[in-house]
Amino acid sequence: LAKIEIKLSDIPEGKSVTFKWRGKPLFIRHRTAEEIETERTVSVGTLRDPQHDHERTQKPEWLIVLGVCTHLGCVPIANAGDFGGYYCPCHGSHYDSSGRIRKGPAPLNLEVPAYIFPDDDTLVVG
Ligand code: FES
Repeated sequence: LAKIEIKLSDIPEGKSVTFKWRGKPLFIRHRTAEEIETERTVSVGTLRDPQHDHERTQKPEWLIVLGVCTHLGCVPIANAGDFGGYYCPCHGSHYDSSGRIRKGPAPLNLEVPAYIFPDDDTLVVG
């Protein structure tokens, strides 16, 4: 399937849910106010792959990323690691709740796919 449609009200705040899309894991995370604030205030100059949180999200409540570690392609674990986002157990890469690489061997942030919100309760990725 080229596109996947997701009903957002099925994903409670604080949860990261994994879908399968184009043969890859897709992480949809309903971020808490605290996570949004933490990621919004990160000093971008300190990042390995410098991106503002607002460049990676259309709506701050929702993070949409591919669940593919940018090191060697393992699937990271949600709500784990030193930065509270994702942790890749293969070689120890830590991502924040914006999916940005913060520690470990991965060179790049988790990839943000193309997506739209056709209405308040719907996300379409692809
Ligand atoms: Fe994720 Fe190596 S594949 S850290």
